[in-house]
Amino acid sequence: MKFTATLLTLLFASLAASTSLFGSSQTILADDDVDVPGKNPLKFCQANDNYLLTIDFVDLTPNPPLPGKTLTIKAAGNFTADVAEGAYINLSVKYGLITLLRRQADLCEQMKNVDEECPLDGEKVLTKDVELPSRIPPGSYSVLADVYTKDDEQITCLIADVHF
Ligand SMILES: *[C@@H]1O[C@H](CO)[C@@H](O)[C@H](O)[C@H]1NC(C)=O
Ligand SMILES: *[C@@H]1O[C@H](CO)[C@@H](O)[C@H](O)[C@H]1NC(C)=O
Repeated sequence: MKFTATLLTLLFASLAASTSLFGSSQTILADDDVDVPGKNPLKFCQANDNYLLTIDFVDLTPNPPLPGKTLTIKAAGNFTADVAEGAYINLSVKYGLITLLRRQADLCEQMKNVDEECPLDGEKVLTKDVELPSRIPPGSYSVLADVYTKDDEQITCLIADVHF
């Protein structure tokens, strides 16, 4: 399970890292339809009323996160339909134009890292501490997490752009 733990940490770290960009750049266009609610730099891939997960908020502390510091992620959302075993995350991480990682991960496995089990349904509140590395190679990172049920119904799709 080392792989999934690493993947989750990478995802959080990458998402966290994107907050730095958000904090230091005024050039990102605000679009209420695609901004994820809360103190975070996340966007939905597209405005979509059909996602099975409604995200109430995602809060990062500190925001922006700091290298070498513990990042606390708190999130709340509502699964409007049951999500059973077989749900998956299509994750890609790009560094500049280079794809560093393109992986499929098991959503239910990942949820064990935050003490949740499938089937997922109803309101969930999650808290997770992540240790951020103190040294991160400089550059632009882009993380995309596209999440589906076993039957390819879209649960959510989140995107984060990162600059170190
Ligand atoms: C969560 O979703 C269910 C199903 O759509 C709905 O009945 C319920 O009211 C929602 N809960 C909240 C707190 O929005
Ligand atoms: C998820 O990724 C797999 C492997 O790359 C691909 O075959 C599949 O079509 C992707 N699923 C969706 C819904 O994009």
